[in-house]
Amino acid sequence: MFGAPLNFLPFLRFLPSYNNKLKSLKEAVRRVHEIQATLIDECEKSTCVDSRLNLVKVFQLQISEGKRQHIYNMDQLHYLLFDLYVTFTETTMCSLLWILLYLAQYPEVQNKMPQELSHVLQDKTMEGGDFANLHYTRATIAEVARNRTLIPLGIPHSVSEQICVDGFTIPKGVMIMPLLWAIHMDPKFHKEPEDFRPERFLDSDGKFSKPESFLPFQSGKRKCIGLSELTTALDFTGICGVTLAPKPQKLIFSKI
Ligand code: HEM
Repeated sequence: MFGAPLNFLPFLRFLPSYNNKLKSLKEAVRRVHEIQATLIDECEKSTCVDSRLNLVKVFQLQISEGKRQHIYNMDQLHYLLFDLYVTFTETTMCSLLWILLYLAQYPEVQNKMPQELSHVLQDKTMEGGDFANLHYTRATIAEVARNRTLIPLGIPHSVSEQICVDGFTIPKGVMIMPLLWAIHMDPKFHKEPEDFRPERFLDSDGKFSKPESFLPFQSGKRKCIGLSELTTALDFTGICGVTLAPKPQKLIFSKI
């Protein structure tokens, strides 16, 4: 939760409160690596996993061949699994929590989604391809992702060559923080950006349509690899770290 400020104000690590949190973070990373070591071990011993489809096995095969050892080594395997674990769990969990909060706040949106589901699916179970026809549902998910940009400050990158953007020179090596929140909340791109309106992601035919200025997964070569998946008392302010997580709140699920 405190990683983002440390990215651009590294001296914060010398303050006791940040230093203690940094220590807890390092401890958490160590624990995750421990759990991963057990999983890697289990994976190695298991014979029922298809080694061509299993990331750990494919990676280990590369390690055993001994080529490009700077990439294929145990440390890299741990960090790869850690990246996947953290990026997958935190983002998916926060997205679902935000969606639930918005549906609780906007019952009219909540009603339209099951109506669309039963219209598109009739009585059959949902399959991957059906999602493309769930225009209102996709628009709602997109509007949540715009309104509560999950990674508000983006993921920092450094410039590999000097570039010029809109007349500004950015020298080689400079760190860039792409402010995704600012893009999603800019009235030039999204009218009345504070409003929650799934319809802004629908074209005149009611089909899902997303503008170029919708960038929850960032863009370019390093964009998110998870991209292909995906009452008034409620508090929408969130807790901002690397991700923008909703504050813990109680929701009641009832049958309709
Ligand atoms: C709503 C959900 C998600 C959002 C908003 C999101 C957003 C992002 C963003 C903004 C980046 C930075 C891209 C860049 O460096 O330019 C990123 C990177 C990444 N994401 Fe996601 N993500 C989500 C879900 C996931 C899921 C489910 C996975 C797991 C498969 C995932 C895996 C990754 C990985 C591995 C990277 C690093 C890619 C790289 O550095 O080349 N993400 N994501």
